[in-house]
Amino acid sequence: MTPQDQLKLEVARAAMAYVVEGAVIGVGTGSTANFFIDELAALKGRIRGTVASSVKSAERLRGHGIEVLDLNDALERGWDIPVYVDGADEINRALHMIKGGGGALAREKIVAAVAQKFVCICDASKLVPVLGAFALPVEVLPMARAHVARELTKLGGTPRLREGFTTDNGNVILDIAGLSITDPPALETAINQITGVVTCGLFARRGADVLLLGTGGGVETHLAA
Ligand code: 5RP
Repeated sequence: MTPQDQLKLEVARAAMAYVVEGAVIGVGTGSTANFFIDELAALKGRIRGTVASSVKSAERLRGHGIEVLDLNDALERGWDIPVYVDGADEINRALHMIKGGGGALAREKIVAAVAQKFVCICDASKLVPVLGAFALPVEVLPMARAHVARELTKLGGTPRLREGFTTDNGNVILDIAGLSITDPPALETAINQITGVVTCGLFARRGADVLLLGTGGGVETHLAA
């Protein structure tokens, strides 16, 4: 296991303390979330089930025999999602994030919106002073790709189509390079208002509540102000 994977494993284990027994658990996407899924397998008899933010995570959960529920079904049965555990591509001290490196940003944002607590699990390389070195993913309806790319260019970035990639929702992704995001909530709103955008990978209006950060010296817990 690489040292970075070791940190991902440690934060995934730390996130188990936030799992609420008997409840539906929101589960994210990516290599760090995969470590969490593998840890969750040990508790599968003690949770009601999970809601997954991607087809890939749903498959991994089912591979462990963990029940995956449809989000609409869960909510219509009156079941809350007390906690959502997911990684990030970048996170700042305000616990605003860039997500979507794995292309699951829209479903991640939906599950995060429903969850009462967002626990972000990251290795220390993800903590940055200013978001934007990681190209910001934007999920776009295919018909609107060129229009949205033009509008994003006006906001100061350089959008590039993620080649050969279709989201779980049948859409495309434009990754915007060259942004220095000093006001994440404002940029999130501006991008999300462009016609044809499904959502952008800025998670600032609904950021994380807790960051579990894997460092060489152990797992640090950071709370949103
Ligand atoms: C997927 C995501 C992931 O959370 C993000 O890409 C981090 O992934 P990893 O844990 O593999 O670094 O937003 O859409």
